[in-house]
Amino acid sequence: MKFLITAGPTREPIDPVRFLSNRSSGRMGYAIAEAALEAGHEVILISGPVCLAAPSQARVVRVTTSDEMFDAVHAYLEGIDIAVLCAAVADFRPAHFSSRKIKKHEGLARIDLVPTRDILASLGALRQKKFLLAGFAAETENLVENAREKLQKKRCDVVIANDVSAPELGFESNENQLTILLPDSSSILLPRAEKIELARALITILKNLQEKS
Ligand code: CTP
Repeated sequence: MKFLITAGPTREPIDPVRFLSNRSSGRMGYAIAEAALEAGHEVILISGPVCLAAPSQARVVRVTTSDEMFDAVHAYLEGIDIAVLCAAVADFRPAHFSSRKIKKHEGLARIDLVPTRDILASLGALRQKKFLLAGFAAETENLVENAREKLQKKRCDVVIANDVSAPELGFESNENQLTILLPDSSSILLPRAEKIELARALITILKNLQEKS
């Protein structure tokens, strides 16, 4: 099967040297890419800026901003069987970009923000969508309720929920724990394990779902 996977954070520039971003390391998305390749699938990995070596057999598309990630995802949809949107896309970006460095003495009392385009929702809204669409839900509270709401709102087939409030799991960690919400309102808990182990289990679940659909 052909997988499209997004991973890592995005950076939203303020000026040539400053940006807004988040704590995503990209490890979960890269582990999913690795696990898909291991299982013999084809992988297009659309990656924000991370300090990780990309799996050598993946086709890697590097992007920086949420706008670039949006355009790259839509450009590589042809022939995809499963899309897994794991990237921690910034929800907001500065409304204005200064093409020259803002000097300290000028001050920067406030930064006006505008929402970014939601990549996952844009795929959920596609008519005649032929691929299985899996999104992530990073939550600090009411994990299952919030993730279920995301599944419906963004019209995904599957939502993979992770609790980002646990300090030893999630962002920047090698381990995670995932709750996979399925379309029939059932869920599967993948208990705490290394991200590569979770990724292997997730690939099997997604492949089986796609085959059944
Ligand atoms: N996502 C996306 N494009 C965005 C924002 C998020 O594709 N501009 C995707 C992420 O890749 C992830 C999913 O949406 O698969 C959920 O991301 P999350 O940050 O948990 O949800 P938000 O929609 O940002 O909602 P909130 O911040 O209110 O929880």
